[in-house]
Amino acid sequence: FKTLDQVDVAGRRVLVRLDLNVPMKDGRVTDATRIERAAPTVRELAGKGAKVIVASHYGRPKGKRVPEMSLAPLVDPLSAAVGRKVAFAADCVGPDAEAVVDGLADGGVVLLENLRFHAEEEANDPAFADALAALCDLYVDDAFSAAHRAHASIDGVARRRPAHAGRLMQAELEALSRALEAPTRPVAAVVGGAKVSTKLELLGNLVEKVDVLAIGGGMANTFLYAQGVEIGSSLAERDLADTARGILAKAEAKGCDILLAVDAVVADKLAPGVETAVVGVDAVPADKMILDVGPATVAAMAERLASCRTLVWNGPLGAFETAPFDAGTNALAKAAAELTDQGRLLTVAGGGDTVAALAHAGVLERFSYVSTAGGAFLEWLEGKELPGVAVLRA
Ligand code: 3PG
Repeated sequence: FKTLDQVDVAGRRVLVRLDLNVPMKDGRVTDATRIERAAPTVRELAGKGAKVIVASHYGRPKGKRVPEMSLAPLVDPLSAAVGRKVAFAADCVGPDAEAVVDGLADGGVVLLENLRFHAEEEANDPAFADALAALCDLYVDDAFSAAHRAHASIDGVARRRPAHAGRLMQAELEALSRALEAPTRPVAAVVGGAKVSTKLELLGNLVEKVDVLAIGGGMANTFLYAQGVEIGSSLAERDLADTARGILAKAEAKGCDILLAVDAVVADKLAPGVETAVVGVDAVPADKMILDVGPATVAAMAERLASCRTLVWNGPLGAFETAPFDAGTNALAKAAAELTDQGRLLTVAGGGDTVAALAHAGVLERFSYVSTAGGAFLEWLEGKELPGVAVLRA
């Protein structure tokens, strides 16, 4: 794919697709990470004298003009991140957008209103893609975290104008390729989260690609159960025992080592401050539930990571939002960060909960690369081709 190094943007109208789908509360941004990570591309384009037209979706307004999902509250945070005053257009296509774009000076930046106020965006409607393309001479995609959506602003426009990857898109793709497509081996994955059912394809793909797969979180209970372990009142998808056994068999056939808990933190229920106990996985009381991996498990997983060169992390190992069930995730995340600091491990993490868990563990900045993507990161881990990436490579 082409990057910003292969194009002269001075004086040209450049439509930049960002993912400004950031968490907001009462009209204020509560986590500006995606804005800050995308800002360098906008700054570079404006600095090179382009007329920069920023487009993004926000939320899921389903083709309606939902005031709470307006991008207007993002004008100030975007201006601050880019270091330039950003204008706003009350619509992303049509006369409002055209008038603001016509008035842009070289180096000027405008933010268009939420793309998803038009149902045609998600439908990848040709006429809507034409209308977006009419605003620009060139297209830049810097929204890796929306690359799993074949929408008009991601697919349609890219087919109608010379398309380039922005700096964040470039960084995401480089990091992901180093993690899984062409990794330094051995490569390990840590996968956690509540349910096996949401990560079946992901596990199936990973056992083919990684040398070591550590499974934690509620989903690990299903694997333990499938192996005949008595898991008490733990949450598990008992009907997926066969599926779990299938994944274990595939892992064995592919030479992928699966790491499961050897001990666990158990309690009566998931609540803050409940009484807990650490037990071997073969001694989970019938009336208790597994809520985190135990210290022996963390030690075993950390030791295995120490012999690896690359790590992909997705999902927490325990119910990390409720202390003390964050301890396992915190400890393994710190061990991974330590190995990263020592230059022994390349660590790549992604997914909504994952970033929250690593931030909570205080290691976010110490990982080699943290993706801005949630759903797109998962689909990439599943081995799927992302439409937003495919169109840039076409
Ligand atoms: C995300 O936040 O993961 C992306 O912005 C995609 O949002 P969507 O799931 O509403 O398409």
